[in-house]
Amino acid sequence: MSIEKLLCMNKEWAKKVALEQPELFATLSKQQAPKYLWIGCSDSRVPANEIVGMLPGELFVHRNVANLVKHVDFNCQAVIQYAVDVLKVEHIIVCGHYGCGGVKVAMENTNAGISDYWLRSIKDLFSRHRGELKNLDNQELRLNRMCEINVVEQVATLVHTKIVQSAWQRNQPLEIHGWIYGIDNGVIKNLNVSRNGLEDIEDIYQVDI
Ligand code: CO
Repeated sequence: MSIEKLLCMNKEWAKKVALEQPELFATLSKQQAPKYLWIGCSDSRVPANEIVGMLPGELFVHRNVANLVKHVDFNCQAVIQYAVDVLKVEHIIVCGHYGCGGVKVAMENTNAGISDYWLRSIKDLFSRHRGELKNLDNQELRLNRMCEINVVEQVATLVHTKIVQSAWQRNQPLEIHGWIYGIDNGVIKNLNVSRNGLEDIEDIYQVDI
């Protein structure tokens, strides 16, 4: 498909949306008020808005390879801070996906170039869970379980941020969720690791605000 075709398709899309919802673009041009922050993988098969049926304006989105939340990643941290402190989103969703290429590379001894540095934290996570993963029958099952473990870890990292703990300390409603998407069936599974307050945070991770 030529690059011009994409611009043509955009014109068609804008026309269609304007017909279906005449007020949408005018409303969005004044403000955004999303209730959800989506942290997902860059994978082209996991388009955030589409898979939860949401319109422009409804999701604040951050995506990177393997949906990682890192304390030293100013990009991700800036997105979280703006979403929580300014937009006051009520939910943060970390949505991973089965068969994630980033997680797969981290589980192998292959050279992925610069991505190796990015994926290093998954390697450490894999190493920590190797015992549990060894009991699974095959590599595909191990990869998919590891994709779940990775999401759970990112939820924990979010809970440990000053941004999230500060919001909870001032009683701002904020829930964090861990989900995983099936590329082969389009269905999201809730990993049931949601958090909505300061309870059960290990002492060394409690932020003294
Ligand atoms: Co991925």
